[in-house]
Amino acid sequence: MAPANSRCHTAAYLKTSKTMGISALLKTAPTTKRNQTPGDFPLIDVRDVYKTYHIGEVSVPAVRGVTLTINHGEMLAIMGPSGSGKSTLMHVLGCLDRCDQGTYLLDGIDVTRMSKSQLSAIRNKKLGFVFQSFNLLPRTTVLDNVALPLSYAGVRRKERRRRAAAMLELVGLSDRSHHHSNQLSGGQKQRVAIARSLVTNPVLLLADEPTGNLDSKTGVEIMALMQGLNQQNGLTIILVTHEPDIADYANRTIAVRDGLIEFDRRNSNAKQARSATSPNPSI
Ligand SMILES: Nc1ncnc2c1ncn2[C@@H]1O[C@H](COP(=O)(O)OP(=O)(O)OP(=O)(O)O)[C@@H](O)[C@H]1O
Ligand SMILES: [Mg+2]
Repeated sequence: MAPANSRCHTAAYLKTSKTMGISALLKTAPTTKRNQTPGDFPLIDVRDVYKTYHIGEVSVPAVRGVTLTINHGEMLAIMGPSGSGKSTLMHVLGCLDRCDQGTYLLDGIDVTRMSKSQLSAIRNKKLGFVFQSFNLLPRTTVLDNVALPLSYAGVRRKERRRRAAAMLELVGLSDRSHHHSNQLSGGQKQRVAIARSLVTNPVLLLADEPTGNLDSKTGVEIMALMQGLNQQNGLTIILVTHEPDIADYANRTIAVRDGLIEFDRRNSNAKQARSATSPNPSI
């Protein structure tokens, strides 16, 4: 089943990435067959999950009983008003925070009662993160920013740099490897952040408002990159967005309101980001 192989896919296409541009690379990368249902088995299975913040005497129930299954290979958008609990849910799904109640199976592993260090190990092994504000180290080179998660994983320097360079090739930024990240445009910074999120070969990419700081054209380019990773490499993606135009690129949308899922819709006719940029997408 293609999604189960996505990690192998990534490893395999990295070998070829040094000599190819991003478009060619994505085209020739081992593909998830589109007529396969995106995953027939769950990558994420959360049942009746709650998360309440406590500040002094005040309790803020941010997630109030969410049950959700996300299969391997899906690209899912989370929408909802400000304060509705999108980021909190994303933090729970991304093992950045634990739920107070309920159960969470991630790729078949019960993470509900894991310790902080166990969750950190799971994050490093399985998950990649992208944030609205990029979270790059400003006076550090692009290459070193991308390689950073591999230091935490104990990978040797030469291998770290090789894999980081391959990821920069993947996002079309090899020619910026030795720039400092504060010398890049917003769209380039986000591509570097995506490269960094992928360098550990995750099964799931979680992106919290990845286009929130970008103009609409650059936002579409970032969505083209994400769709390529999802459709051609089987990477499962969850993205939080306020923008319906961005959610239209996902093949499923859930809306969160007051910490609950308001609706959960499939979009079998997702907009294709590639056709939205003209004449050639810049990735
Ligand atoms: N660390 C925290 N401590 C206390 N309360 C928090 C914390 N993080 C979020 N909250 C509260 O939890 C609720 C949900 O917040 P969350 O950040 O998940 O919303 P959101 O949907 O992501 O909003 P936005 O669209 O503005 O990013 C809000 O009422 C918020 O004030
Ligand atoms: Mg948020």
